[in-house]
Amino acid sequence: MLHQAAPPKPPKGKLIFAPGHPVSDASHGLQRDQPPRAAQFSHSKLRRSDLSPDPFVQFHSWFSDPLLQAAVPETVNLSTASLPNGRVSSRIVYLKELDARGFVIYSNFGTSRKSRDIATNKNASLCFWWKPVERQVRVEGVVERVSAEESQLYFDTRARGSRIGAWASQQTSVLEPRSSTTATTQQKADGDPKAAAEAGQEVAEDEDEDDGRAALEARVREVEARFEGQEHIPVPPFWGGLRIIPETIEFWQGRESRLHDRFLYTRIGGDLGQGGEAKWKIERLSP
Ligand SMILES: Cc1cc2nc3c(=O)[nH]c(=O)nc-3n(C[C@H](O)[C@H](O)[C@H](O)COP(=O)(O)O)c2cc1C
Repeated sequence: MLHQAAPPKPPKGKLIFAPGHPVSDASHGLQRDQPPRAAQFSHSKLRRSDLSPDPFVQFHSWFSDPLLQAAVPETVNLSTASLPNGRVSSRIVYLKELDARGFVIYSNFGTSRKSRDIATNKNASLCFWWKPVERQVRVEGVVERVSAEESQLYFDTRARGSRIGAWASQQTSVLEPRSSTTATTQQKADGDPKAAAEAGQEVAEDEDEDDGRAALEARVREVEARFEGQEHIPVPPFWGGLRIIPETIEFWQGRESRLHDRFLYTRIGGDLGQGGEAKWKIERLSP
């Protein structure tokens, strides 16, 4: 009989070490006494002959895979970096449009970290991970702001609350807790929370509980009052679309034993979406 190794103990000082899943064996089910193993990728393969010469067509074909319908395939990591210090920042956003020039996301361009980064450095990257099909797509390129007219078209599709929210939020700026010396506090201390509420200020059960959220909610009320009875809400001047115009796009298909299939498209000429046709070189990369 084969001696089965006990699962290894994490080395001292590591909270996480080689996370994985119990090894599964087709004939015996899960082998719970085996060391865990990281997942294997076996869904599919990718050959050069599978690829469209146009990476946008290829992206659209992968994005539209029926297996991704429930997986929110538009969820994507966006990385930017500020200059001159070179610090990189990443966050999840939603891809909202793909057009002949590039990949469009919508965001705040007044106060967010991404807007500060982009002000000094136009390079950005997107990284999609589509688990049900074991695929990754990486896009690298330069960014441009989408026009206010185009941004308005998308803005109009958003729920009213999200349009109000875009106006109300100075994205990523610090929300200070309400000061304990405000009138509200005083009125509350005087035992008159109703008067405080009538003065237009939300009264927290315990003043110490405000962690800054009250300032955001007050701002939302202000914006709601400003646009009350108004169906059309203009897109805020500090908000809109950002188009990532790709220089490279990589298509990655997970394979067994980490021997993945990877193809890199690099733009070698032509224009994107300006009458001319872009030309792309395609190379297979080592996993
Ligand atoms: C699933 C998901 C989708 C998101 N979509 C967007 C988006 O489309 N636009 C956006 O500005 N922020 C979006 N966010 C919030 C961002 O991750 C981030 O908090 C925000 O953009 C501020 O980031 P920044 O200050 O680094 O620019 C999303 C977050 C999650 C988790």
